[in-house]
Amino acid sequence: MSVSQTTIDEIKSRIDIIDVISDFVTLKRTGQHYKGKSPFSDEKTPSFIVFPRNQNFKDFSSGKQGDAISFIMEYDGLSYIEAIKYLAKKYGIEIVEEEQSPEAVLKQNERESLFIILNYAKDYFKKTLFETEEGKSIGLTYFKERGFTEETIQKFELGYSLDQWNALETEAKSKGYNPDLLEKAGLIIRKEESQYDRFRGRVIFPIHNSTGKAIAFGARILKNVKNQPKYLNSPETDVYHKSDVLYGLFQSGRAIRQMDNCFLVEGYTDVISLHQHGVENVVSSSGTSLTENQIKLIHRHTENITVLFDGDDAGIRASLRGIDMILQQGMNVKAVVFPGGEDPDSYSRKLGALDFQQFLKENAEDFIHFKTKLLLDGRENDPVKKAETVSQIISSLSTIPDQVKRAIYMKETSNLLGLEEQVLYAELNKILISQRKERQKEAFREQPIQLIEEIEQAQQKESFDPVVFQEKEALRILINYGFNQIENEYNLFEHYLEELNPIEFSNPVYNQILDIFKEELNKGSVVDVNYFINYPDQKIQNEVINLTSERHEISENWERYRIYVPKEKDVLTNSVYSNILRIKFHKIKKLIALNLEELKNETESVRQTELQKINIELKKAEAAFSDPLGIVVS
Ligand code: CTP
Ligand code: MN
Repeated sequence: MSVSQTTIDEIKSRIDIIDVISDFVTLKRTGQHYKGKSPFSDEKTPSFIVFPRNQNFKDFSSGKQGDAISFIMEYDGLSYIEAIKYLAKKYGIEIVEEEQSPEAVLKQNERESLFIILNYAKDYFKKTLFETEEGKSIGLTYFKERGFTEETIQKFELGYSLDQWNALETEAKSKGYNPDLLEKAGLIIRKEESQYDRFRGRVIFPIHNSTGKAIAFGARILKNVKNQPKYLNSPETDVYHKSDVLYGLFQSGRAIRQMDNCFLVEGYTDVISLHQHGVENVVSSSGTSLTENQIKLIHRHTENITVLFDGDDAGIRASLRGIDMILQQGMNVKAVVFPGGEDPDSYSRKLGALDFQQFLKENAEDFIHFKTKLLLDGRENDPVKKAETVSQIISSLSTIPDQVKRAIYMKETSNLLGLEEQVLYAELNKILISQRKERQKEAFREQPIQLIEEIEQAQQKESFDPVVFQEKEALRILINYGFNQIENEYNLFEHYLEELNPIEFSNPVYNQILDIFKEELNKGSVVDVNYFINYPDQKIQNEVINLTSERHEISENWERYRIYVPKEKDVLTNSVYSNILRIKFHKIKKLIALNLEELKNETESVRQTELQKINIELKKAEAAFSDPLGIVVS
């Protein structure tokens, strides 16, 4: 198969990389370029940059870069041709290509062939639904009874599989498709003697990948047959990994970004019904409990998830754990519970579009409130129940990475439970400490105990040296916010270089990291944490990772000593300014101490006078730095 060069040229001239990538990544404009979270890795600080001027992207976390076509190829594991086709469709460009023979299909690599055969099957099921007697009278009638409009049916590409053993197989073979591939795609089942279609006499729900290709199917039975499950799903295949896919994401992605919220429901029919009733920002993990990868998929589009629960309690309690995973990724979670016996599908049909949307708006409750109430179970005055609830809620809160957000929740929970915040913080600290120990154990599992003690001692000593502490802070700011601009004029790192010239840290590893910064800067790029995540030198790698993970603890310490007020991103300029002052201030204090030490031991009077002069100069400098910092020098 080949797409004509003119088609490719036309596509290239028509695409806008910002437009293409915006379908998958939320991009924010920052100066000349656009920035977003890497779609190729899980990250908190955006390091995925798109440059409209030369129509390129660069992902600093994975190192991937290229143009719009290579983005599509990377994002969905597509071949060049498949990516071209996707873009042609998006821009309504007609593709001129050579006719494709079944033999040619066989020759193509298997993954691509699986896509082709799955999409052939999808089209076949669609055709069967609309064009066969059985499809129309059974399948289509069923969908219509469920209230699905023709438009909805088309949008989700619903289909029907005939109630015969080999309908799809026969048809596909006659078109030249390879039976091995049909099996590998999960469409037919082979036993020793026999082989037969997996989906028979069922309505078909294709599961799409993010570019709209069918990669699997869910199929619902319509008759009441014993020993037959209500829903049958495709098995795992080379192109379908259940835990990495969300049903409806292809149809809902845009709305999720627009509404900046994603509703999470149980299954196919819920997703489709919500669309039908004007709620298009909805996905389902279809049958399985939510996985981390699925949450990441949503996180690419929004920070906000609203989980819709059926009215039955058992299901809710079972999914509480999955929701802690959402919190852990720093997302905001709300919950809506439907009245007893209703699910999103049935209830949206019952209320109709407007009332249903109103219902969602009015009943979305913050998850922590929701969980607290659920666990208390109306027994606010039962001390045992209350204690249980406290530890479960705090364990949810402990997973929230953002310290400010967590603090707000702590306050609310304290109100909700009528308990002192201090009590809650005591509980929280218990959990955080045990988590930290757990993490350390994990990290050091293969290292001898002696080394652990050594490291712990070093860590303790370090935090007592204010210079090292401030240097660490400087490096932490650089690593976390290297991309940010100070006053729109300076690159953050250049600013540090200028201020602390010659910049020389007491810790050799810090200096090495600085050197890397400088080197990269000379090459014209600013590195951030992602650059170091797989850095070959283990010491450097660890140090950087520590610096990012210690962020909150450092802020907490500072606040406790009233040195510094956090909400860092907003006051970055200030924190850089004060950090630089502090480094200088503490360095001068050190020099003063050294100078005095020397003075004490000096017996020669000329040198004594000299040292005294130096002392006065240093004291002046100390005052110059301590004043703006509001530090009183004794
Ligand atoms: N589901 C599933 N496997 C099952 C049952 C349900 O995957 N054995 C999922 C489907 O995605 C379905 C959703 O859960 O859309 C809701 O389940 P249910 O209400 O039982 O399915 P419906 O097709 O809506 O059936 P009914 O008309 O009886 O409500
Ligand atoms: Mn249902």
